[in-house]
This record gives sequence, C-alpha cells and structure tokens, in this order.
Amino acid sequence: MTDMTATQLVTWIVYLLAAVCFVMGLHLMRSPGTARRGNLLSAAGMGAAVLITVLYLVDQNSAIGWHGGLYAGIALIGGLLVGGGYGWYSAKTVKMTAMPQLVSVFNAVGGGAAAFVALTDFLDRMEVAGAFGLDLSVEFSLPVVLDIIIGSVTFTGSWIAAGKLQGIVSGNPITFAGSRIVMAASALLAVGAGVWTIVVGGNTWTLLACLLGALVFGVLLVLPIGGADMPVVISLLNAFTGLAVAMAGFVVDNQILIVAGALVGASGSILTKQMADAMNRSILSIMVGGFGQGDTAAAAAATAAGASVRTVDADDVAIQLAYASKVMFVPGYGLAAGQAQHEIAELGDLLSAHGVTVYYAVHPVAGRMPGHMNVLLAEASVPYDEMKEMEEANPEFDTADVALVVGANDVTNPAARRAGTPISGMPILDVDHAKSVIVIKRGMGQGYAGIENELYTDPKTGMFFSDAKKGLANLIAAVKEYLD
Ligand code: TAP
Repeated sequence: MTDMTATQLVTWIVYLLAAVCFVMGLHLMRSPGTARRGNLLSAAGMGAAVLITVLYLVDQNSAIGWHGGLYAGIALIGGLLVGGGYGWYSAKTVKMTAMPQLVSVFNAVGGGAAAFVALTDFLDRMEVAGAFGLDLSVEFSLPVVLDIIIGSVTFTGSWIAAGKLQGIVSGNPITFAGSRIVMAASALLAVGAGVWTIVVGGNTWTLLACLLGALVFGVLLVLPIGGADMPVVISLLNAFTGLAVAMAGFVVDNQILIVAGALVGASGSILTKQMADAMNRSILSIMVGGFGQGDTAAAAAATAAGASVRTVDADDVAIQLAYASKVMFVPGYGLAAGQAQHEIAELGDLLSAHGVTVYYAVHPVAGRMPGHMNVLLAEASVPYDEMKEMEEANPEFDTADVALVVGANDVTNPAARRAGTPISGMPILDVDHAKSVIVIKRGMGQGYAGIENELYTDPKTGMFFSDAKKGLANLIAAVKEYLD
C-alpha cells in the first residue's frame, strides 16, 4: 500500500465504490418496485469504473512521455465514444420485442472482448518472457485459457441465439450427420490445446487451436437447441459472459472486472438453474441437445382430429368479464409484440374498480426474455400484488370465472402434459381449469415451439381473433357499456 501512487489510490477507491454499487444494485433488482433504481445504481457504478480506468491508463501511459498519455487518451476516449455511443443508441432505439436479441448480441460482444483481451495479453507477455528466456506461470496461463474457451463459446453461441430469436436462423433444432462428432472433436481441440498451453507452454498456434475449437463448439452447442429451451440457453450464455469477464480480470489483474464478472456469472448461473427448474429440464440434458426435439406431429394430433374452434367477439367477452367475480389475465409474447400492456392494465383497473378480483398470471418463460412480462406489466403500472408467478397463479384458475389469455400460446398449451412433444414436461399455466377461457390472438399462428395448441379447440375456449392492442381496446369499450 505504501508504494501506491495517488492515481492508483483514487482508482482503487472508485473501484471499491463501484463494487458496492453493483452489489446494492443487484439487491434492489430483487423486486420490480425497486429494480429500476437498482439498474441505475449499477450503471452509475459501471460508468464511474470505466471513467476512472481511462484516467488511470492515460496517467500510466504519460509516464513514458506526454505523447504516451495523448495517444492512450485518444484511443481510449475514442473507443469509449464509439462503443458507448453505439450501445446507448441501440438500447434507446431497440423495440421492446427485439430486446432479447440485443441482450444476446451484448453477451456475444462481452464474451468476445474478454477472449480477445486474454489472447492479446498472453501473446504480449509471451514475447517479453521469451526475450528473457522465461516461461509464463500457470497462475497466468490458466485464466487465459479459461477466458479464451468460455469467451469464445459465448461469442459464437450468443450470435446463433440472437439469430434464432430474430428468425434469421431457424428456431427448430438444427443438426446434421456427424454434428455430435464434430462437436466432441471441437471440444477436445479446445481443451487439449488449452491444457497443452498451461502444462507444456503455449504459443500462437496452441492459442489459435484453443480459440478455433471453442468458437466451433459454441455454434454447435446452440444450433441443436430449439423448441422452448432457448430461455435456459440465453441465461446460460449470460452467465458465461460474466465468467469470461471475471477471467479477463485475473488476466489483466483488474479487480473491478473480477467483481463485475463474478456477480454476472453467479447471478446468471442462479437464473439458469431457476429457468431450467421452471421448464422441468436439467441443464445438462438441454446442453447435450436432448430436448426441444419432440414430435411436432404428436403435438398436432389432438387438434388435427376434426376439432374446430369457437370464435367470439368483443361483446361476448365483455358480458363474461362484466359478470365475473374473478378474472385471470394471462399475458404472453403477443402482448409484447402488440405493445398492449397499457390496454390490459386499463381493462384490469376497470374490472377491479367494479369489484372483480383480477390477477395477472406470469409464466417464467412467457415472452422472449427472463422477466419479460413483469417488465411490461410494471411499465403499465399494474399493481404488484395482482401479479402472480406460476406456482401462485395455478391454484387460482380453479376458482376463476374467466381466464383471458392475451398473446400467450406455448405457456398455456396442454400438450406439455403429454409425452413426445417439444414442450413435454414444461409446467404450464392451468388456464383450462377456469370456468371459461378467452384467447386474444391474431389467428391460428403457432407459438415459439412451433406446435398447435389444443387449448384452442377445447369447447370451453372462445377465440377472439384480433391484434392484442386493438382487441383489448374494443373490449374496454364494450365492458364500459355493460358496467355503466
Ligand atoms: P408464444 O408461444 O411465442 O406465442 C405467442 C403468440 O402470440 C403467437 O402464437 C401469436 O399468434 C400471438 N401474437 C403475436 N403477435 C400478436 C399480436 N400483435 N397480437 C396478438 N397476438 C399476437 O408466446 P408465450 O406463450 O409467451 O411463450 C413464450 C415462448 O417463447 C416459449 O416457448 C418460450 O420457451 C420461448 N422463449 C422464451 C424466452 C424467454 S427467456 N422468456 C426466450 C426464448 C424463447 P398469432 O400469430 O396467431 O397472433
């Protein structure tokens, strides 16, 4: 501590405060009511950490002359403006429905950057050590190898995940003859070259072999995952990004990278476990590609046997809602796509004001990103005590007069209760336990898992074909007529 310069001391203090902001921010994110503040606090911590790092590096480079500081300043501030500016612009302008893809791209960039840091740092130090006839220590090469492997898998895996979410890459499981063998060979190449680098000593070729093996493995890890298992993979890749960043922190000896990366890695791992539990899957079985490949024909069988749907209009639904004592709203991806969160909240408020008990049943993987429905409903100021997570919501359907499903499909599909479908075993919202079920969607389009939904041909289900926003607006107008 006594050798520390004033700049180092200030940098350490800011790092410490930033770490406190991250931890407190995460704590606040536990509840939707305080999550926004938590996000801002964490972002402020990260902003301070980035700024002090730029100042610190400019100061360090100034030690070799004024031009060192100037060049470092131009490169770092230039990078900050370009990267930060683009990040700010894309986050500001992205549509809510495209947010999951953006998060996936950010994961890819984070993992790729971490792997790149390890690669360049290793090559630099190898050159210096070589000039003095020295070997690099295991304490240094171990995090380098882990960083390259985890960061590269995250990089390519997240791009494939973003492609699947955007619809550029097919959402169905993609495999080809020998894909498992190529996958095993790429894993072996990455791990083998990594172990060689640590134990025998690395060079440019061992690192490139490790990088190449991990990049190919990342692609082949995510391609075969389809159906409803993507949520688990997305949070797993998010956890990987954190781990890669933590490893990069060990490589360049930067404490704030270690802290931030460890927090993302740990919280991402817990989220992954929770998502896998919610889907009734094991993480290992998803990663080896065993799920999401059920028989779509088996899923369609129940609906194909001459079953027909019953259509209803706004008036029919309004009567049911106006005379109900308990209504369960079930939001899904279509609510986000139709940006109908304010309308559903207005309908909920209207019914509550007339003594109807209203709950919003939130499935953990409804939508396209973790917490998607919670975010939407919170944005529309839905009271938190009306939002019920799946375990809490399911018993409520037994006593509900109406289950109003708005743009949700897979998370309500009873095919999940049968074996042999892509969503078999996934817990669903028991909407079919309500006395009456109304589904608002535009047509008979399938959900993300790409299968028919036999709920739609259940005799107690009425299909109200409409865009979510327009349908709910019509419903609000019709309900008002009955309640006035
Ligand atoms: P989905 O099963 O994806 O179904 C959404 C339905 O909304 C579609 O069938 C579509 O039918 C309808 N829709 C689309 N736009 C609409 C609009 N403007 N107005 C009204 N309806 C509209 O949604 P879900 O039930 O929320 O299930 C989510 C699925 O995504 C699950 O399979 C889940 O595993 C997967 N997934 C989730 C995540 C996360 S982390 N949550 C990430 C990746 C994948 P029409 O075309 O007929 O209107």
